[in-house]
Amino acid sequence: MPKIASATIDEVNNRTDIVALVNEYTRLDRRGSDWWGCCPFHNEKTPSFHVLPDRKMYHCFGCGEGGGVIKFLMEMEKISFTEAVISLAKKNGVEVIYEGSNYQEPEKNNTKDLYIELYTRVSGTYHFFLTQSELGSFAKSYIVKRGISEEIIEKFELGYAPSDKYWLKKFLKEKKYSDEFLKESGLFSNNYPDISFFIDRLTFPIANRKGQVIGFGGRLLRGDGPKYLNSRESEIYRKRENLYAFHLAKQHIRQKKAIILCEGYMDVIAYHQAGIQNAVALLGTALTEEQVKLIQPFIETIFLSLDSDNAGVQATLKSIIVCRKADITVKVISFKEGKDPADILLNNGVEALTRCVDSAIIDVDYLLSFLAKEYNTDTPEGKTKAALSFFPYVEALKSDIQKETSLEKLCQTFSLKPEAVKKDFNNRGLYKSSIQNDKQSKTQQVPVKKEKIKPNVELRAIIAVIANIDCFPKIRTKINAEDFEDAMARDMFIALEDCYREGAVSFESVMSKCSSDGIHQFVAEYITNGEFSINTEKTIEDIIVLLKRNSLERKRDRLTNQIRQFTVVTLEDQKQLESMISEKMNIDFELLQKKDANG
Ligand code: CTP
Ligand code: MN
Repeated sequence: MPKIASATIDEVNNRTDIVALVNEYTRLDRRGSDWWGCCPFHNEKTPSFHVLPDRKMYHCFGCGEGGGVIKFLMEMEKISFTEAVISLAKKNGVEVIYEGSNYQEPEKNNTKDLYIELYTRVSGTYHFFLTQSELGSFAKSYIVKRGISEEIIEKFELGYAPSDKYWLKKFLKEKKYSDEFLKESGLFSNNYPDISFFIDRLTFPIANRKGQVIGFGGRLLRGDGPKYLNSRESEIYRKRENLYAFHLAKQHIRQKKAIILCEGYMDVIAYHQAGIQNAVALLGTALTEEQVKLIQPFIETIFLSLDSDNAGVQATLKSIIVCRKADITVKVISFKEGKDPADILLNNGVEALTRCVDSAIIDVDYLLSFLAKEYNTDTPEGKTKAALSFFPYVEALKSDIQKETSLEKLCQTFSLKPEAVKKDFNNRGLYKSSIQNDKQSKTQQVPVKKEKIKPNVELRAIIAVIANIDCFPKIRTKINAEDFEDAMARDMFIALEDCYREGAVSFESVMSKCSSDGIHQFVAEYITNGEFSINTEKTIEDIIVLLKRNSLERKRDRLTNQIRQFTVVTLEDQKQLESMISEKMNIDFELLQKKDANG
């Protein structure tokens, strides 16, 4: 995919109001010309998140996150640079232009957008029926009786699909939707395209990660039929890739670095009603790798809050393995036989539900107690079966220490000899285990901790220039990329130069061309500290002199070394050589001598 032009990046940066953008994620308060708030990247009670509207930068003194508007959105939504630019461009009415050829953004999959629009409209209509219409009043009293507040009904946009099975078709036809389009929408019966799919049901809109409605769940409230009906998969709705209420929970998931995974819509709603807002639900499938990818950037721990029936236990076992393979810590929340979070909240209250979460047990303990119940571990056969069922879990663990520790736990629990267990574990391929999912996992890369960048003179110099970007046209006449010894600083200079030539010099456009790890954050930290806002003109002049001098010295040393490799015959020869060199280099020897005289 072609690169986005610097001018576009620049424009996006100019048009984006950083305070408004950040305000969507955390509340900011003004102090002087700056804004402060609690950091949206980590959980805190006192504000250490600092936003500088003039510079369009943010920095957290607590966790060290920092950057500009594009970086903010990338980190917040865990999306790519390009996605962030496009999203901000859309929001601010900036046309996205690509570098090089007359590349045009591929024509958006228009039907997809149209279906999303359709679902959004229908969701709003169902919501209207539930909250404003006499038709839905019995559904409303049902949900209220279950202890759900108005606020939650709004937040989840719960709705009611009318009992008139032709109503939706008529309504949408009036809105000029075509029969062909509606036939494929998933909102109607397969065989009878005039009959609604959801009839006389409480509806739960299902949204994608952006919060766009892509499907529905519908609960039966009276009469016969399956308790729940769910939208079929479609071009916009893929069950494996979405989680119910993820868009509503995301902010809380990020801050707690944890997610609660439930089985059903009502479980999630109960958690949110209880103020536990990092809960989401599966959509009728077991936890998939795609769903893990969706949540992994935000979390360290997953709490499994699945039913205690057989299906729920099987889903728990599977999910543990999937999560461990992704190096996520797993805890299991359990409820009394046959109870679910909604029951607990309604019958025992918020504190009881909170206690359930707080007393979640780590997956290894859950597994061992499950195996103890499952097999008769008084017999060698039972012990063997338990151990073999446990091995896929051990295998899924990411570190040898974890593997070792969990094998030790297995030994303690079932009074086994460590040597025997280890032997069997190493030979596990020869046995068949009863916990499935022992497909050989692709070795997954463990993320490498970022080295912190150490500020040297050159980096500080280039950051000073970036902080005072208007001075760049002047500076570029005095120094060039070769004057930098530090590779990162040189890259930044080149980025500045590129942007200058493209006529789009701004913090964002420059940073978009710098690929070094952690550089964005590093620069933002420096700049937001305000280090370069005093006496800038003088600072920058000093910096230029210093850089130039260092660079000249290096050049001189290099050449002097080269001279020494020749056999110099006479003093005359040497003088001649040096003057040739200085001419060739065009060295400002005065500058060097000044330095030598000083020190
Ligand atoms: N489910 C489904 N089809 C069914 C039954 C259940 O798709 N016939 C899915 C739904 O996503 C549902 C979840 O499984 O939310 C859990 O089902 P269940 O425990 O039976 O329902 P609850 O979530 O407890 O809903 P309620 O409390 O309203 O009974
Ligand atoms: Mn229930």
